[in-house]
Amino acid sequence: MDVSAGGIHPDQQIPSAGPNYQIPYAERVGVATDALVGAVGGISEPAQADALIRNDRADFAIVGREHLRDPYFTLHAAEELGAEDRVEWPVQYRRAV
Ligand SMILES: Cc1cc2nc3c(=O)[nH]c(=O)nc-3n(C[C@H](O)[C@H](O)[C@H](O)COP(=O)(O)O)c2cc1C
Repeated sequence: MDVSAGGIHPDQQIPSAGPNYQIPYAERVGVATDALVGAVGGISEPAQADALIRNDRADFAIVGREHLRDPYFTLHAAEELGAEDRVEWPVQYRRAV
């Protein structure tokens, strides 16, 4: 389950838009259900996403706007976290790696 507050209605009162700002919503849904829960909201650093999972705050980290800034964020994050063997660059890009 992807827990997003949306932010698409002008009357919404979302407290802040800083790092991890929607993660508490995912935590609450995770505690209340047996569903696998993904957290979104202000995740822009590989170590930040990694910590969310390691600290059991969510089952997976979802990265929105950072993927608009860096479409290869996942690949770059894997490299930064030393997990290159867990992801694969598109075949066409291998010569550039
Ligand atoms: C282009 C764009 C479209 C979005 N569309 C939706 C949407 O249709 N429904 C929704 O619940 N959230 C939508 N969101 C909000 C995201 O799900 C997410 O809550 C928000 O971008 C915060 O995560 P981020 O900091 O990783 O971007 C959208 C965000 C962006 C940038």
